[in-house]
Amino acid sequence: MKSVAVLLLLSLMTVALAAVAPSDRHYHPVPSFLQQSNAARGNLLAGMGANKYTLPHEANAEFWLNLAREELAQRVNQKPMNLNKAKNIIFFLGDGMSLSTVTAARIRKGQLKGNTGEEDALSFEKFPYSGLSKTYCANAQVPDSACTATAYLCGVKTNIVTIGVNAKVNYNNCSESEDPTNHVSSIAAWAQKAGKSTGIITTTTLSHASPAGAYANTANRFWECDADILPWGDHNDPAQCTDIAQQLITQEPGRNFDLMMGGGMGKFLPKHLKDLHGNMGERLDGRNLLATWQGMHPGGVVVHNRNSLLSLDVDKVSHIMGLFQSGYMDYHAVSNKQKQPTLAEMTEVAIKFLSKNDNGYFVFIEGAQIDTANHANLAGISLDETLEMEKAVQKARDMTDPNETLIVVTADHAHPLSIAGYPGRGTNILGVNQHDTDINGKKYTTLNYAAGTQQYLDEHGERLDIESTFGEDLLAQYPSYIHTDQGVHAGEDVGIFASGPHEHLFRGVMEQHAIPHMMAYAACIGEGPTMCDNKA
Ligand SMILES: *[C@@H]1O[C@H](CO)[C@@H](O)[C@H](O)[C@H]1NC(C)=O
Ligand SMILES: *[C@@H]1O[C@H](CO)[C@@H](O)[C@H](O)[C@H]1NC(C)=O
Ligand SMILES: [Zn+2]
Repeated sequence: MKSVAVLLLLSLMTVALAAVAPSDRHYHPVPSFLQQSNAARGNLLAGMGANKYTLPHEANAEFWLNLAREELAQRVNQKPMNLNKAKNIIFFLGDGMSLSTVTAARIRKGQLKGNTGEEDALSFEKFPYSGLSKTYCANAQVPDSACTATAYLCGVKTNIVTIGVNAKVNYNNCSESEDPTNHVSSIAAWAQKAGKSTGIITTTTLSHASPAGAYANTANRFWECDADILPWGDHNDPAQCTDIAQQLITQEPGRNFDLMMGGGMGKFLPKHLKDLHGNMGERLDGRNLLATWQGMHPGGVVVHNRNSLLSLDVDKVSHIMGLFQSGYMDYHAVSNKQKQPTLAEMTEVAIKFLSKNDNGYFVFIEGAQIDTANHANLAGISLDETLEMEKAVQKARDMTDPNETLIVVTADHAHPLSIAGYPGRGTNILGVNQHDTDINGKKYTTLNYAAGTQQYLDEHGERLDIESTFGEDLLAQYPSYIHTDQGVHAGEDVGIFASGPHEHLFRGVMEQHAIPHMMAYAACIGEGPTMCDNKA
């Protein structure tokens, strides 16, 4: 990986130099440091040069040659294909985890250990197979979390904002989404049919778009509870239009989930009832869906904080429902660590609990606030949330056997976070570029977003000096180019990483909606072809 990065950098420099040809100049803008006078350029390169950023042991070509040979050997000696049947599937989803977010999180991980950072790797980057997933939806070049959840959980591309339905369903049209002939089924349902245990974990609400892909059929992802339906147009009657929380508790396959963890307690409780976090419920229809769930699962338990989760004896409960906030869970970085479990802690309890089933399990685990933070241009938080998911993935791999448990890690869609300029090796990924400046001589951050609320411009449209704003403050809001009320999604491919039975299916460039079919093939579930067919 490291030698690849060096090659990429070299080819980038070559392209940049070639672009200085006068006839091309208009069409191929060159980096400012190459446009500067020789003297100015010399100053910049001298600042970066004199090997200031070069680690002494890396100055020797031998260092890189050895590293490259190690990587080559790893690939040459890779174990034969793992053609086992997947007893268990653990599917991790980093919401909005663009490849730039993965790269920046990797650098952050290394820098938190006191290293330069670029050379580090996230747990899932060490998986034997990886590829790219194409995230467009039936009617969207740049998708949202609803249509993409339908793709990676139900295996069908559909329209933006809709979940668990085909693309005949129009956004916000309840009668179309209530029509069973428009419904598509999820890999959670396929797993249940095969006798496996099933679960969902998220850091937003249990009724949020991504986990809802595992159980809901709806024309609008924002219909999380009945009170959320009316604001979207008076033609939809909550009495006719089943909200997502209600679908989770009362319909297949949600009602059969063995385990659910996340936030959103308010979506399940009537507005006259205070929830376990001290806030009033949100429902207008008077339903207490937690009481309904408890009645259906007398051996199940509702937990609401870290202690009650970690002190559970998983052998003594039949079902687990964790609701750790009234709404979204708090960002890990600002959460009360005594009260709110981490994603790794939730993952650990889930695997212990779901492993009780000899037929295996399917569990969906979402690092959901990578997206939330990227929308708010809080790059530091987004990287922290990515590192939290990375730890959960490591925990899952450590607790399970790659011979029988397939782990797949991917994202639903990208975010336009860029890692730009020519910062020297080891430059704080959350800070400013120490050498390159804008045309007015002002330093700029390495991380920027395409769209968001803060451009850091003065009344003349000139960039402010922001050097002191960025560095270690995880809550600093990163600059964006286009002034919008919040950050937007991006349309480039996202990464997919796999380890375990049939990991080799997750390679190359794939359509996002093929993902659940490949997982189902490996686990011999669902209605399509599976590896077990070949054994006949
Ligand atoms: C919803 O779809 C149905 C069937 O396609 C159609 O008759 C109806 O007019 C639509 N409702 C709205 C509000 O667009
Ligand atoms: C996994 O399976 C392979 C081949 O069947 C076997 O050699 C290896 O020991 C197994 N690994 C574990 C951890 O059970
Ligand atoms: Zn989003």
